[in-house]
Amino acid sequence: MSSGNVINHVTIIGAGLMGSGIAQVAASSGHKVTMVELDSKLLDKAQKNIEKSLERVAKKQFKGEEDKIAGFVNESISRISGSTDLNSVVKDTDLVIEAIVENLEVKQKLFGQIDGVAKPSTIFASNTSSIPIKDIAKSTSRLDRFCGLHFFNPVPVMKLLEVIRIPETSDATYNAAMEFGKKVGKTCVTCKDTPGFIVNRLLVPYMAEAVRMLERGDATARDIDTAMKLGAGYPMGPFELSDYVGLDTTKFILDGWSKNYPDNPLFKTIPMLTKLVEEGKLGMKTGEGFYKYQK
Ligand code: NAI
Repeated sequence: MSSGNVINHVTIIGAGLMGSGIAQVAASSGHKVTMVELDSKLLDKAQKNIEKSLERVAKKQFKGEEDKIAGFVNESISRISGSTDLNSVVKDTDLVIEAIVENLEVKQKLFGQIDGVAKPSTIFASNTSSIPIKDIAKSTSRLDRFCGLHFFNPVPVMKLLEVIRIPETSDATYNAAMEFGKKVGKTCVTCKDTPGFIVNRLLVPYMAEAVRMLERGDATARDIDTAMKLGAGYPMGPFELSDYVGLDTTKFILDGWSKNYPDNPLFKTIPMLTKLVEEGKLGMKTGEGFYKYQK
């Protein structure tokens, strides 16, 4: 179904881990992309990471066909530009995707700032993992043109996109968001604006319950991981996954939820997780989490 909102120019605010991935898939699927960062060094870094990642994708896709590989990389790169001047960029954009720091006040300030500058038809979206979309959207006067677009890390590899509707999100906005998601090669699922949406709502309490099992001494981390891989067919066990995601990230999400929903036992913070984070054992990125890693 056509929405009437054709998305050609996408502005990605924050070109870190997620923003650069989103910029990459948007550019390689034919969109004009502008990345906005705090300074030009961060933009250069993002451009370099995207180029490397595009090469990896192209080599897989066009095995050995050097011309096609170079063509794909160069064409995609040519569609991406960078800016540190947010206000001037959003004047001429169809879709804004915000992927900055996970902090409600900072996100509200950002959307509040661009609401009066962007053209009325521009759709605003946040890639937040754990903040209610409604809380971010209320800093603007375009609730009907606001939604969540929750991508997964690493964006060029992970096939899923969660499209989040707040009650005010119009059908036209929702349809345009779904069309955009499909165009960038993702399988889109829809969820209401609820904690963790679909994936994290199930995954985070599952990882938390695994830590509680370990804390109680019911089984070892290794045996719990083995059990879930061989017994439930999961590609990674909950502790391997926690170490991959980062214990600080899991704790941050749980802390936010337990503050907002103190009565939900699934969201309760866990002493063992708090201790590991306090000790700087954040998972693979620090060389130790539930397991030890070679740095
Ligand atoms: P990151 O720290 O890698 O990147 C954030 C970037 O935003 C940084 O480069 C920073 O310089 C930039 N930034 C901060 N404030 C800015 C501003 N006012 N204007 C322009 N740029 C600004 O963070 P990451 O991991 O990419 O996360 C970004 C968002 O995506 C968060 O909301 C997070 O919850 C969400 N998310 C993260 C996932 C993950 O696996 N890391 C998965 C799905 C969503």
